Amino acid sequence: MKYFPVFFDLHGKRVLVVGGGDVAARKVALLARAGAEVKVVAPELCESLQYRLANGEIEHEARNFQDGDIESCALIVAGTDDQATNKHVSDLAHANCIPVNVVDQPELCSFIVPSIIDRSPVQVAVSTGGASPVLARLLRARLETLIPAAYGRLAALMNEFRHKVKAKLTDEGKRRRFWEDVAQGHIAELIFAGKEEAARQAMHSAVDAAQVAEDRGEVYLVGAGPGDPDLLTFRALRLLQQADVIVYDRLVSAEILDMARRDADLVYVGKERDKHTLPQEDINLLLARIAKKGKRVLRLKGGDPFIFGRGGEEIETLMQEGVRFQIVPGITAAAGAASYAGIPLTHRNYAQSVTFVTGHLKDGTMNLNWPALAQPHQTLVVYMGLLGLNTLCARLVEHGLAADTPMALVQKATTREQKVLVGTLGSMPELVKQTSIKPPTLIIVGEVVNLHKKLAWFGGAKTVGEE
Ligand SMILES: C[S@@+](CC[C@H](N)C(=O)[O-])C[C@H]1O[C@@H](n2cnc3c(N)ncnc32)[C@H](O)[C@@H]1O
Repeated sequence: MKYFPVFFDLHGKRVLVVGGGDVAARKVALLARAGAEVKVVAPELCESLQYRLANGEIEHEARNFQDGDIESCALIVAGTDDQATNKHVSDLAHANCIPVNVVDQPELCSFIVPSIIDRSPVQVAVSTGGASPVLARLLRARLETLIPAAYGRLAALMNEFRHKVKAKLTDEGKRRRFWEDVAQGHIAELIFAGKEEAARQAMHSAVDAAQVAEDRGEVYLVGAGPGDPDLLTFRALRLLQQADVIVYDRLVSAEILDMARRDADLVYVGKERDKHTLPQEDINLLLARIAKKGKRVLRLKGGDPFIFGRGGEEIETLMQEGVRFQIVPGITAAAGAASYAGIPLTHRNYAQSVTFVTGHLKDGTMNLNWPALAQPHQTLVVYMGLLGLNTLCARLVEHGLAADTPMALVQKATTREQKVLVGTLGSMPELVKQTSIKPPTLIIVGEVVNLHKKLAWFGGAKTVGEE
């Protein structure tokens, strides 16, 4: 071990920073977060340090470093662009046994500053011993995605109950297992879902019973986004990796399912048009039934569960059945398709509003408010509209939209099979016949579609049709 990791308590302690540039400013920002009283010695300050000075967050001596500056300092950081000054500060600090860091010069340092993941009071410090700060930063970025932002709140709650638990569970082994259950079970999930008061109540009950309440099972209703696995939320990924059972439907991509816990049971409930593997009511009850067996069930849905996803119905059943649940939003197909096709849904010059509708045909018709939809300067996004495309185009023209109103079909948005078909309300029915557009497909109608030509950026994107 080249360095011994420690965490300094700098609250109210004087820290000297020599140098007033951007490098010094980054260190000042960290020191300020740790509650240090920072004095900066430098002839000039960069913009962000000037701002801190104006806010009364730092002290400043507008001159070069003098030996007396190190007096009463708990820590020193040197970050000037003058090598001789840096060396002199380092020598003086070493001679006076004051910890010193000279930015990017490990040979002059008595301590180095790690990359930090801050979930105060939980902190994770990553260091490569100065060998590769870039690697440390990349590692930190990975850890950031793994450690829920609410870990700090969980730690604070655990701290709140520390003495009570110690008094109640005197056996060290039992106490450790108790805390492990808290950190990995229902109480932690309550915190992550923002239910702090419920978590506190659950802690009280658990401590009184001297054990963590038995896991009663839970359902996570999770939006998987439109297809690209990189568009999953951190929370969706974390829950995927801890759920016992994953109940998924057709729109969920194989890459996303691959991220589930290796030993999780995967249950396919389908939902292809006219080929419902399980009726919706049965899916609702299935979720409740599995959760009641004490399992953590993740109901994975394409896009967002609350946008044409019937998530509301599933949750209603869970409520009726008294099953705990939480909901994790996902990126809906409209947002994914618009971004990956380079078609902004609103634009100052072309569309002041956007409307999402379902183009699902019922008895061969589309029951929509056509006069409201056939308005200029708005964007219309149609989910499930491919089958009823002819009806859609005809009704919009009948109700006043010009036949040359731009229209795009985005197939399998955000995936490598994404295709964008561009045409107009008048031409699209014929264009579709000449191509092999397949579901899932999203329809975008409005002037914003013209921007696709200019803004299309997605690597695998293919555009067909008129442009
Ligand atoms: C039952 S809805 C589900 C919508 C989903 N809950 C969401 O928020 O995106 C299914 C429709 O969403 C659209 N859709 C979903 N994923 C898509 C994708 N990757 N590309 C294009 N359209 C998609 C299609 O219109 C499809 O018929």
